[in-house]
Amino acid sequence: MSDAGTPRALVLGATGRIGSAVVAALEATPGQVVPVRASRSEATVAQWIKEGKEAVRIDLDDPDTFPGALAGIDRVFLATGYTSAMNHQTKTLVDAAEDAGVGFLVHLGVFSDKRSTDPHFAWHELVERYIAGSRLAWANVHPHVFMENLLGINRLRDGAMVWPMGDKQVGWIAGDDIAAVVAKVLAEGPETHAGKDYYLSADLLNGAEVAEVLTAALGQEIPAVVITPDDLMRMIEAGLDTVPVGMDAAYAASTLIWARQTYEGRFDYSAVTTSTVRDLLGREPVHLGSWATAHRQELLDQLS
Ligand SMILES: NC(=O)c1ccc[n+]([C@@H]2O[C@H](COP(=O)([O-])OP(=O)(O)OC[C@H]3O[C@@H](n4cnc5c(N)ncnc54)[C@H](OP(=O)(O)O)[C@@H]3O)[C@@H](O)[C@H]2O)c1
Repeated sequence: MSDAGTPRALVLGATGRIGSAVVAALEATPGQVVPVRASRSEATVAQWIKEGKEAVRIDLDDPDTFPGALAGIDRVFLATGYTSAMNHQTKTLVDAAEDAGVGFLVHLGVFSDKRSTDPHFAWHELVERYIAGSRLAWANVHPHVFMENLLGINRLRDGAMVWPMGDKQVGWIAGDDIAAVVAKVLAEGPETHAGKDYYLSADLLNGAEVAEVLTAALGQEIPAVVITPDDLMRMIEAGLDTVPVGMDAAYAASTLIWARQTYEGRFDYSAVTTSTVRDLLGREPVHLGSWATAHRQELLDQLS
């Protein structure tokens, strides 16, 4: 607890997309939870502390860093990166959180049905079982595809929206909505949220439909290039597509399996939107059109 008796929440991935937005959301509602930013980078942590922010260094690949980072921590937001290391990282962090007397852990997972066979979905399900088997109170947040992927793995290529899953739709959710839900769950704590799974999907759109939304939001024609997973494999083999920075080979291979399973209809169960943002936050989720308007310049920069 802080000196004022406010719970302190360790925010993993605080330099990343969702973690940084979680910190921002917690800071927007002061007095509920004190965010403690975490990073592997000593320089980043030193800079945060210089700015008067609470921050600790932690390396999820080095459990020796865990006790120091978890000292005085009441709640943890656990986001791991785009690597298969998430398995041992989550296991060892959960063990250390138990030992440190952490009261509540909120895990960033994926939109899965607990029967996934594609590897990265299976990894998230595996670590969620491990968390559930621990002494920690927990909640899982299960976002569908991040809208921010349109600035990264699903960025426009030669001005077009390339979609390797035919006419299959997936759910989309804005990072800020994920973070707002996580912040609310962290702030209200285990009394309200222990044992809950929150599924997040605001819009159900395939590549052609995303291209239509982007065209309207940007006022500029964004064509869709609708291909198959086999076409994508050929593009990768020809060096026309590359693995995003920070993603390891096992995770990258798994995203291709996810695309193939989606194309084959094995993820049809997940072709839904959810009312989670409305239920928890009492407002509409961010829809892709308004997200694209807010990120207009970043999207337009991809065209130049
Ligand atoms: N993209 C999607 O559509 C999608 C959908 C559903 C779920 N997800 C899940 O979202 C998660 C990724 O979230 P994100 O996009 O916010 O990640 P991100 O922007 O790539 O950031 C990754 C964060 O992880 C931290 N990190 C990496 N390795 C670390 C280590 N060894 N020790 C401590 N911290 C480490 C990094 O911090 P430092 O470098 O500062 O240490 C960074 O802040 C993944 O679990 C993924 O499965 C993604």
